[in-house]
Amino acid sequence: MMLPALWSLLICLIAWLYVKWRGLKSYWARLGIPYVPAQPLVGSLTFLQRENPFTWLRRVYDDHNSPYVGLWLFQRPALLINSPEIARNVLVKDFNNFRDRFLSSGSSDPTGALNLFTVNDPIWTALRKRLSGVFTLAKLKSLQPLSISKSNELIQRIAMEKSENLSLRSLFSDITTDIIGAAAFGVAGDATLTGDSPMRAVTREFMKFSLHRGIAWCSIFFWPELVDIFRFTMFPKSSIRYFKKVFHILIEQRKDSVDKGEDPKDLLGALVKLRKEKECEDVVFSDDLIVSQGAIFLQGGYDTTAVTLAFGIYELAYNPEYQERLYSELLEAKINNNNSEFDTQTLSELVHLNCVIKETLRMYPAMGWLDRIAANDYQIDEKLTIRAGTPIYVNVVGMHYDPKYFPNPKKFMPERFLPENEKTITPYTYMPFGEGPRACIGSRFSKMNLQHILSRIIIAYEVSPQPNSPKPCDVKMEKHALFLAPGENLYVKFIPRK
Ligand code: HEM
Repeated sequence: MMLPALWSLLICLIAWLYVKWRGLKSYWARLGIPYVPAQPLVGSLTFLQRENPFTWLRRVYDDHNSPYVGLWLFQRPALLINSPEIARNVLVKDFNNFRDRFLSSGSSDPTGALNLFTVNDPIWTALRKRLSGVFTLAKLKSLQPLSISKSNELIQRIAMEKSENLSLRSLFSDITTDIIGAAAFGVAGDATLTGDSPMRAVTREFMKFSLHRGIAWCSIFFWPELVDIFRFTMFPKSSIRYFKKVFHILIEQRKDSVDKGEDPKDLLGALVKLRKEKECEDVVFSDDLIVSQGAIFLQGGYDTTAVTLAFGIYELAYNPEYQERLYSELLEAKINNNNSEFDTQTLSELVHLNCVIKETLRMYPAMGWLDRIAANDYQIDEKLTIRAGTPIYVNVVGMHYDPKYFPNPKKFMPERFLPENEKTITPYTYMPFGEGPRACIGSRFSKMNLQHILSRIIIAYEVSPQPNSPKPCDVKMEKHALFLAPGENLYVKFIPRK
């Protein structure tokens, strides 16, 4: 009796799933929109754990000569934007409809959920307003000595170790962890010199891949409903324990100095001061919220900056003519500066240095896409109106490699950003730090660090390729990561300059 009933139920379920799947699969075709076909389970996201999104996004861009392309995030329709005009509308003009990111770190883990990157309105607006004050020019100036002293330590480290032992991503993660650890939490680290520190153990843990972390990140980015169900966390659990233990002690110390009327020296201090001044009636500055900002600054800042430095130095090793031009510029500036340390003002005026940084960020944008969600139905153009709740991805890396905007895009050509050329770049085709009110809050801080570290290396060392290393265009990208990172260790020869 039971068996036939169960069979009928199963057949009905399969028939229902089939009809749903057919309906879903034809969603974009019915709207007449080009799309990346949906595969069972993953939808269009066939790259997950197989290929870095950087590679996939460029291929989708090249395969579809269209201002937008329909996708499925598992079972949910989403839109990929390939057009600078639509990107501008979403990121800037109609920002009020796209204030939030689609990704979400759920609600069970406050360190992942309350930070500026993941949090939604109204907390985001209140937080961003307060945190912008932490990155003013004056505050950055006070961080300059840190950047300079760590860059000098980096030169000592390079002198102490053999070039072939210095994997670039790891070497630069040591220095960016020290800098951000000190700037955000006031924790002095010596990873730049030794390759290790308690904070570096945390950032190393961030980098470790495991199947569980991979699934957690894919859920946070593309299927956020699963995050609370499986209690996934944005940061590894051991890092959260470290953050909670160490930072709560630090917050207590900052409370003491704020009570004594001292000026905050780091991000934690600035946030504790804000809480004390009761300027934040629109957001509760709980300890969790404060710790969460520290965690995202560390996570969001150390690897993005380290990967940019790694690719920048690697490209310079393979492009000696640009390296020599940069070296001459730095040498001249040093002589004009009476051989004293470069300050940020001087470095920000060096044309070739900044062209090298901008071109590195064009070819290797740490985040190849910008993620938003539509709050209300939204008319993309006369052909397409998307429903409220549709995830949107601006295909930054696709545009960075479009020969229409950047001729010969696979070639490292810093001169694209010479002032006379830069002004001809089509707006919203170059967005390594994102765009609009939700763009990267740390962009000026990271540019300052990039300028100090790169200039210090190039004035002290000539970098050249190691034998048997892949050419930059042949470097494999990390297939387990969602952000851009090399999938293999990159090495160069550091040859001391006379
Ligand atoms: C080369 C280095 C870096 C790159 C390429 C980079 C890139 C980005 C991008 C593309 C976004 C998304 C912007 C958007 O959606 O429009 C972003 C957001 C963010 N970045 Fe960075 N970033 C870098 C360094 C940093 C540093 C050093 C920090 C902190 C000290 C930082 C903190 C953040 C935060 C908190 C957000 C979220 C902002 C918000 O939603 O309001 N980033 N970054």
